[in-house]
Amino acid sequence: MSAKPDLPRFNRRGFVAGAAAGLLLPALPRMAGAQANDVAIEAKPASAQLVPSEYGRTDVWAYDGAVPGTLLRLRQGERLRRVLVNRLDQPTTIHWHGIRLENAMDGAAGLTQEAVAPGGRFIYDFTAKDAGTYWYHPHRNSLEQVSRGLSGALIVEEAETPDVDDDLILLIQDWRLDSDAQIVSDFANMHDMAHAGRIGNHLTVNGEQAYARPAKTGQRLRLRIINTASDRILRLGAQGLAGHVMALDGMPLGQPEPFGDIMLAPAQRADIFADVTAGAGETAHLTSIERDGTFSLAAFPVESAASSTVRPAPKALPSNPVAAPRLDDARKLDLVMEGGAMGRMATARMADGETRSMRELIGHGMAWALNGTAGMTDQPLARLARGEDVRIRLVNQTAWPHAMHLHGHHFQEVTGETLGPLRDTILMMPQEEREIAFVADNPGKWMFHCHMLSHQAAGMMSWIDISG
Ligand code: C2O
Ligand code: CU
Repeated sequence: MSAKPDLPRFNRRGFVAGAAAGLLLPALPRMAGAQANDVAIEAKPASAQLVPSEYGRTDVWAYDGAVPGTLLRLRQGERLRRVLVNRLDQPTTIHWHGIRLENAMDGAAGLTQEAVAPGGRFIYDFTAKDAGTYWYHPHRNSLEQVSRGLSGALIVEEAETPDVDDDLILLIQDWRLDSDAQIVSDFANMHDMAHAGRIGNHLTVNGEQAYARPAKTGQRLRLRIINTASDRILRLGAQGLAGHVMALDGMPLGQPEPFGDIMLAPAQRADIFADVTAGAGETAHLTSIERDGTFSLAAFPVESAASSTVRPAPKALPSNPVAAPRLDDARKLDLVMEGGAMGRMATARMADGETRSMRELIGHGMAWALNGTAGMTDQPLARLARGEDVRIRLVNQTAWPHAMHLHGHHFQEVTGETLGPLRDTILMMPQEEREIAFVADNPGKWMFHCHMLSHQAAGMMSWIDISG
C-alpha cells in the first residue's frame, strides 16, 4: 500500500475545472396539517465539511441537512413510516433501495408516484421484511440529486443480533469538486454520460474525508459498506483485517466467503465481518484499490488488544424469506444493452416513438438503449404474471460496465444449473453476457435500470410490469 499521503486526498486527486452554479434556496414552505407523531425526512440545501477545513464547506443537498442523511434503523418485520418534506427547488422522491415493499411506496417518480413538488410532502409507510444493509436516495433527477449529497443508510436488524464488537456503516460517496470545494454542476455533460459516467475527484466515507475509528486487536467489526457514488465502481481491500463477506446487497450468503478484495458497483452493498489483526500501535485499513495505488478509505487505529483474541469463522447470517426461482419452465427474456462511446449502436427508439440515429440521440441527451429503446416509455420490457419464474439474459453489447438494478425483487445469477447469491444490482462488464433469475412475486411496476446514474439519465432506464 502506498503511504497515506500527507496531503489530503482532495489535493492528491487534483481539481476539476468548472464553475459551480449558485444554489437557489427555496422559500421554506408552510407545512399545514402535519400529524404530530409523524417523523419527517427533509430534503434540503445544507453545507458539509467534506474536505479539510482550510478549503471551507461544500454546499450540498442533504436529507435532514446531513451527509449522509439520518440513519434509519429498525428490526426485521417492523414498519417504517416517514414523511418526505421537499425543501429543494425541484421535485424529488425517496426510493428505498433493495427493500421488497409495496409498489406504491417504491418512490419511482413517474412510475409508482408523482414526484413531490417543492414544498410538498409524501408519506412513505412500509414493513421491512428482510434484514440487511439497504439505503435510500431520490428517484427523480437522481444523477444530480444523489451527486449533491442526498442519500442515507437504511439498516434492518436481524431478529437476533450477531456476535460482533462493533457495527459500522460506511457510505462511500464520490464527489466532483472544483477548487473552492464546490460541487461541479455539469450534470448534462454528454461526454461523461456516453463513457464511464460522472467520476469524481474526492471520496468520502460518511461525509468524512479521513474516516477513522479506534479498534482493538481481536475485535470483530461488522462493516456495512454502501457504494452511494453516482457512477464509480469501487474495488475495496483490507489491511490488518481478516474478514468474511457475510451478505451482498443486504442478503446473507449461504456460506460466508473469505474477504480478499471486492468490487462494489454503484448502489451495491457488502456486509463484512472483519477481525482486527493489526497489533497495538498499528492501524488497520479498509482500502480503495485504484489504478495509481492503494489508498486508505477508513482507518482503524489499534490502541490495545481486546480480551478475546482469536475467533472462529463466523456462521452465516439467517436467510431472508426470498423464494428461489425454478429454472425448468421459467419464462425466458433478453435484455440487450447498447450504445455509448465506442459502441456500435446505430439507432434507437425514443419515448415519442421516433427512431433516431446515434447523433440525433446525443442531441436529445440520450446515449444508451435497452432492447432498442432509449429512456422510459409507457411500454414495459415485459409483462409478467404474479408468481411467474423468470430468467433474463443480460447482454452487454457496449464497451462499458453497467450496474443493472431491478426494483422490488432480488435475483440470482444462473450459472449452468446453479443459482448465485441474491442481489439487487449486478455489475456487467463490457461485452459480458450473464443470466439472472427470480420469482416475479411482487405485483406492480418495477424499474429496471443501470445504477450508473449518468447512464440511467442518458437512456438506460426501463421497467417491468407484474400483474396483481
Ligand atoms: Cu437505487 Cu432505481 O435505484
Ligand atoms: Cu450503465
